[in-house]
Amino acid sequence: MFAKETYIQRRRTLTTKLCTGIIFIPANNEMSFNYPANTYSFRQDSTFLYYFGIDNPGYAGVIDVDSGDNILFGNEVTMDDIIWSGELPSLTDTAASIGISKTIPMSDLVEYLQKAQSSGRKIHYLPPYRDDHKIFLNQTLAIPFAELKTNASEELIKGVVAMRSIKEAQEVEEIERITDVAYLMHTTSMRMAHPGRIEQEIAGTIEGIAIAHGRSVSFPVILSQNGQILHNHGHNNPLESGRLLVTDAGAESAMRYCSDITRTVPVGGKFSQQQKEIYEIALRANLEVIKSVKPGVFYKDIHLSACEIIATGLTDLGLMKGNPKEAVAAGAHALFMPHGLGHMLGLDVHDMENLGENYVGYDHTVQRSSQFGLAFLRLARKLETGFVLTDEPGIYFIPALIDLWKSEGKHTDFINYNKLEAYRTFGGIRIEDDLLVTEVGCKVLGKPIPKTVTEIETEMQKSV
Ligand code: GLY
Ligand code: MN
Repeated sequence: MFAKETYIQRRRTLTTKLCTGIIFIPANNEMSFNYPANTYSFRQDSTFLYYFGIDNPGYAGVIDVDSGDNILFGNEVTMDDIIWSGELPSLTDTAASIGISKTIPMSDLVEYLQKAQSSGRKIHYLPPYRDDHKIFLNQTLAIPFAELKTNASEELIKGVVAMRSIKEAQEVEEIERITDVAYLMHTTSMRMAHPGRIEQEIAGTIEGIAIAHGRSVSFPVILSQNGQILHNHGHNNPLESGRLLVTDAGAESAMRYCSDITRTVPVGGKFSQQQKEIYEIALRANLEVIKSVKPGVFYKDIHLSACEIIATGLTDLGLMKGNPKEAVAAGAHALFMPHGLGHMLGLDVHDMENLGENYVGYDHTVQRSSQFGLAFLRLARKLETGFVLTDEPGIYFIPALIDLWKSEGKHTDFINYNKLEAYRTFGGIRIEDDLLVTEVGCKVLGKPIPKTVTEIETEMQKSV
């Protein structure tokens, strides 16, 4: 937890961003997986953490915009709690640790909210993403389930997004520390990428590193020699010489800040000529992004420039043809890079995605495109000092997509389908770093993780 002044100041600032009413931010609850007492690993709601700092279930935070009152709803520690969980601070002490002097028992929360609602006060809540919160809001405020999302407070969403988008120095330090854990995860993956090893052995090992050095992974590990499947969570394959291994993995810190890094390496430690050629293109895109990121630039423009670098490289290799700029404008490059360049990173690996991607990555100056590929860009808006975001270009050969586009005669002006036959089993490449937007440019966070062909091949020689 940060110093209590951090939470006091954040709540005070949030209050200034709303006109009137009550801000209601519930903590997450424990969730069961196969019987009630066997719960998933607890994950606090990130916005609750941001404003109330407590990483335990059983709380709700309320800020009265009009009176300025801050209230922590929670339960007093019982003897049962102490028997099972050890000595715990009292509700009053917990509240004091985040600068709140007023506490109310959880059992009074429903009455409190209903009374406020019936006296005509606006209750601002964020779009709920867990069913228990949906049921609570539905039952307490009589909002139909289908309307819970549209009834969420846009004023509150915008206020939270404005604040959480700009990372404080202490937050950046946390993210940087946990990116160093990603360094350990990725160099371990590189060293373990031998033919015959099952993907699962590496995935399990690097998840263990995240747990041993942080709190957990920041999202389920993506580790596969079928890297053309963008979010491949299957880890059953024995590694084969000549394939590429994509590892997209990060850790979550004790304070729940995230890292998110991707590296792609040749199984066995040596890139083939074909792999090197494609890899160098993706790397060029990743490096050019680092050079371009600075305040005032639209990330959408940086995404499009990265796509142009990819289209130019593929044109040079004969896989694409025509003018790369026109190819990107037409969306032809999306056959090879169907996803967006990156997203915000913070207390969530896709930071604040639960608040609505368009609120986080778009604003009135930039609308989401409906074009395949560009439509998946999560962050498009103008960059500001203090943003932390990912830079993750990729090049993939997805046989089913190639076959579909070819059968539809799609973008034949820009794609040499015949040349793609030699790449059907290539897989995919993604290279991802975490960047802090500074006043003059950007900083790549964390200890540098091998990224050039030579760096990767050298790291892989330290085989384990
Ligand atoms: N690292 C997974 C993603 O960004 O979607
Ligand atoms: Mn990412």
